[in-house]
Amino acid sequence: MVENFTLAQISDLHIGRTISYPSGQVELFEELQKTVEKIARMEPLPDILMVTGDLANHASRRDYLRVKALLDSLPIPYYIVPGNHDSRRVLREVFSDHSYLHLADQFIQYSIDGLPVRILSLDTLAEGSHRGRIDEVRLRWLDERLAEEPKKPTLICMHHPPFRTGMPYPDSLGLDGTQEMAKIVGKYRNIEAIVSGHTHRESCVRWNGTVAYVTPSCTFSYKLEFHEVDDLDPLHEPPAFRLFRWVEGVGLVSHLCYNRDYEFGLSEGVPRTPNN
Ligand SMILES: [Fe+2]
Ligand SMILES: [Fe+2]
Repeated sequence: MVENFTLAQISDLHIGRTISYPSGQVELFEELQKTVEKIARMEPLPDILMVTGDLANHASRRDYLRVKALLDSLPIPYYIVPGNHDSRRVLREVFSDHSYLHLADQFIQYSIDGLPVRILSLDTLAEGSHRGRIDEVRLRWLDERLAEEPKKPTLICMHHPPFRTGMPYPDSLGLDGTQEMAKIVGKYRNIEAIVSGHTHRESCVRWNGTVAYVTPSCTFSYKLEFHEVDDLDPLHEPPAFRLFRWVEGVGLVSHLCYNRDYEFGLSEGVPRTPNN
């Protein structure tokens, strides 16, 4: 009987970027601070934090150091999944004490064992491209890890979603290799969920026998846009993160959380432009 296992996931920090909204400028590090403070105040504290990519907007050492100092202040362990804005080399340099980053020369893929839910972290980064890739080497690793524990509840973490969201612009920056990944995932019945980020918006779909989520950015959103566009403007929506709570006899239950408290509901305190 497992009790009280909780996993938090934050995504798309983009530290180093400042966003200009009609209501004013927002330095994304301040939003990350709010997110980290919110997680640190949770009762009970999550057991583990997964950081699913785009930690720094320009993969700079300075910005990674700021992220590291802040995340190191949390009283829980955290694990990094690379995103398209990240550099494996600089991540490995700055987070040198994170031994799982150094397990393989090429990709940053690892399993986290010993928890009620097994975590498999996939590397979808294709350096030099904002699209992601999950190729034969990475997929073989996934298949081998899944074959090791075909009954243990498992969560797959990755940066790029493995499905198209129906939003043409983010889908144009999607993931190559999803059909092959679908075949592997479809063979197993113990994958509780797949979580990703990258689009900066919440999405969820039934996917090859499991549930696949996209978690919003913990620092800024993009508009929900179903038309073809050349670019997307940031949108001043509440930054969010995801919490998974293991419920015995039910499974891994997802709870979307916001990085601030909205004492009188979400309609109060949501950023507004000066005109309304
Ligand atoms: Fe991002
Ligand atoms: Fe991304």
